[in-house]
Amino acid sequence: MENEFKKSVDAAYLEFKVEPMDQLYSNKIAGYFSRLRVKKILKEANFKDKKVLDLGCEAGYVSLMMNQAHAKVTSFDLCIPALKKFKEKLIKHNIKDITPFAAIAQKLPLKDSQFDYVVATEVFEHMPELDKVISESFRVLKPGGKLIVTFPNEYLRKKVYWIAKLFGIHTEVEDEVTLYEYSKKEIIDKLSKKFTVKKVYTFPWYFRITHMMVSEKHLTN
Ligand SMILES: C[S@@+](CC[C@H](N)C(=O)[O-])C[C@H]1O[C@@H](n2cnc3c(N)ncnc32)[C@H](O)[C@@H]1O
Repeated sequence: MENEFKKSVDAAYLEFKVEPMDQLYSNKIAGYFSRLRVKKILKEANFKDKKVLDLGCEAGYVSLMMNQAHAKVTSFDLCIPALKKFKEKLIKHNIKDITPFAAIAQKLPLKDSQFDYVVATEVFEHMPELDKVISESFRVLKPGGKLIVTFPNEYLRKKVYWIAKLFGIHTEVEDEVTLYEYSKKEIIDKLSKKFTVKKVYTFPWYFRITHMMVSEKHLTN
């Protein structure tokens, strides 16, 4: 497992160096589905004044969008260069209420039962010991809190590589850094060990590239 973990850290650093999400969001065409995913997440939740954990925040695009939606955002990632970029953005935009920190999702340096939402978007496919990540998300959520997860529909992703290449996406790097190709069922099974899975869908309807799942920590837990 140590080896698996090292592989995932190397992959995270490689991805941020060669194909950062941060860059993709600002690409007008290639970033379209990524921006759409973030819009869907914002629609899925009422973030106003809620405590939200952005799990695997990279350089902070999703955190910043949730901050704009008036969430109280806590962000972490294991990739130090990504966090550095995020911090530069915070300084540039004079945003003082987010302090991103380095941590690993499998063992969070955070107290129990404090968040209304945990947002894990496009991260599960990069993480070993996913059961631990889900358990840690469960632990830090308040009873009634929600875990919002998105991950790629692998079946479609591979088929559209040739189109992605046309838009400058390094699909060979995508392959190298996507360490786990989970099916919808596999993730539902893992989530169901801890959570009540409330919603599952794949979007957009005309190009079903992203799976979205919303799960709830039971009120009596
Ligand atoms: C594809 S990026 C997604 C970034 C962001 N969530 C988004 O949707 O824009 C995956 C991120 O997960 C981070 N990551 C991978 N494994 C991690 C772990 N075990 N703990 C914390 N972050 C991790 C990587 O460093 C990377 O920034």
